Amino acid sequence: MSEHNFAPLQNDLLLRAAWGQTVERPPMWVMRQAGRYLPEYHEAKAGRDFFECCRDPEVASTLTLQPIERFAGLIDGAIIFSDILVIPQAMGMVVEMVDKKGPHFPNPLRSPDDGQYAEVMRRDVDVSKELDYVYKAITMTRKKLQGRVPLFGFCGAPWTLFCYMVEGGGTKMFKETKTWIYKYPEETKALLQKISELCVEYLALQVKAGAQIIQVFDSWAGELSPASFKTFSQPYLAYIAKHLPPRLKEMGLEPVPMVVFPKGAWYALDAACDLGYNVVGLDWLHDPAETVKTVGDRPVVVQGNADPGVLYGSHASITEVVTNMVKGFDWHNRKKGWIVNLGHGITPFVNPDDLKFFFQEVHRLTKTGAQ
Ligand code: CP3
Repeated sequence: MSEHNFAPLQNDLLLRAAWGQTVERPPMWVMRQAGRYLPEYHEAKAGRDFFECCRDPEVASTLTLQPIERFAGLIDGAIIFSDILVIPQAMGMVVEMVDKKGPHFPNPLRSPDDGQYAEVMRRDVDVSKELDYVYKAITMTRKKLQGRVPLFGFCGAPWTLFCYMVEGGGTKMFKETKTWIYKYPEETKALLQKISELCVEYLALQVKAGAQIIQVFDSWAGELSPASFKTFSQPYLAYIAKHLPPRLKEMGLEPVPMVVFPKGAWYALDAACDLGYNVVGLDWLHDPAETVKTVGDRPVVVQGNADPGVLYGSHASITEVVTNMVKGFDWHNRKKGWIVNLGHGITPFVNPDDLKFFFQEVHRLTKTGAQ
């Protein structure tokens, strides 16, 4: 089937759970598990530029494996070390990672008639060529993993990528974004559609290279009103879920589980369950028991959702948060439908031993007979 001849998977818990099967314990990984809170991350990165590391398959695969090695036996998935902003880069935009500040676009899209918009819309982007380094990193990582755990591929959601492309970086005001959606809705939708098509092809090529499950990060979904979410996020998330499986089939590839993470869009949980994804990621604003009710009997798995901030707290607080999740997601009765994660990426300055304690508590409290 695969052209790569990878080692057989020894721990397929994450994949079985993501397909909605009953499992022996909930699988677990955390968003941003390879990153700045790990001392070995800084060592391996050795002062190099962030995107330079993403473009070097040897470095990217080393960084991807770091949490798998440190937390061996505790976590059940790896996620390729990369960034959501590689798609805007592939579309011809310059993106830099500024130390302690985050991503920066020197020339963001400021209006539909500034010339750059027309250029971005006109350009035929070949993601197979432009993002070749990501596929190489994925294939190399699969080889180095030797079947220990499955590997996630990912992309940014069209809405979140659009926000970055027009704001030029992180923002609290979303001035440019709101100007676009309320002044230029048609041009906004045309760009969102273009990004969506690139996302499908990019994800398919990640699967071809060896990704065994994919996640779409809509980190800024919560900036939209419920009505605008329906217009500017939902249709494009649905587009990806609808078009990826047939594209994989066309390429002679097996389907993979698909995860969507519409961060902050708590009002859209019900709609998110009908987007066509196998798994819906939850941030920590959701009450676990309420989400179980909202999902109802739909075949949707949820992923999350401990407040990442608890990792700055005491061990007693970590135990309490884990206990609340185990109870709220009704683990001991259901034995399915839940992938353990934080409600967003792990933050810098967390002590990795406290994350390890979180993992150990999840194992202890979800063991059969632990209730
Ligand atoms: O371990 C993993 O989860 C894999 C790697 C990964 C990174 N970025 C590495 C990274 C993933 C999945 C991402 C996705 C990503 N990138 C998102 C979606 C997830 C989320 O957090 O909402 C977003 C919004 C981005 C854009 C981005 N990249 C920002 C806002 C920043 C700076 C702020 C921050 O949290 O560091 C980055 C940089 C980035 N991406 C780092 C890492 C390890 C830090 C780079 C460094 O300073 O060394």
